[in-house]
Amino acid sequence: VIESRRRIHAAHLDTIGRLTIAAEYKEEHSAGHIARVGLSAAVLARAAGTSPGEVEMIRHAASMHDVGKIGIPDEVLLKQGRLDDGEMAIMREHTRIGATLLAASDSDVIQMGAKIALYHHEHWDGTGYPHGLAGEKIPREARVCGVVDYFDATTMERPHRPPLSQDWALDSMTEQRGERFDPALLDAFFDCLPEIRQIREEYPVQ
Ligand SMILES: [Fe+2]
Ligand SMILES: [Fe+2]
Repeated sequence: VIESRRRIHAAHLDTIGRLTIAAEYKEEHSAGHIARVGLSAAVLARAAGTSPGEVEMIRHAASMHDVGKIGIPDEVLLKQGRLDDGEMAIMREHTRIGATLLAASDSDVIQMGAKIALYHHEHWDGTGYPHGLAGEKIPREARVCGVVDYFDATTMERPHRPPLSQDWALDSMTEQRGERFDPALLDAFFDCLPEIRQIREEYPVQ
């Protein structure tokens, strides 16, 4: 029984890996982003006192956060230049699409992935999307992912802008403490920043 459970677990992780590869297929540079966000989310979760078993789940689940981008048309996903309001609304749908793709799974990790996909763009003060949830109503694993995703995404090149510096990203995160970001999680993020930077060295931003 243990052997077959172990195999099913391995099959789940394999499926997750393949799903994320599918999602990153269209977007250049996104393979590194996905790996870094998964690993960084685990580091932050651990620093914030999460149990080891859940840390391991978050590592895999967070790597699925943008899986819904697979459903975003190329002309929006890959557009050079700023998105207009209509295009932005389409882009924001990657949260719901990701959740729909993942939600019906009976794997705990993939169910956590569905929550993270849905809520990783919610803000602590309720100004995020898709539901405008605030504070602890946002699942904690999604808040964890939101912090590390912001740091990684702002410091990498995007179709519409060059990469911003780590100092810029960190200042902007401090400014948004208690607004976009859960204050306790942001403090934990700064505590484990050396480890997060280490991950960036191992999986460099190209
Ligand atoms: Fe996202
Ligand atoms: Fe992301």
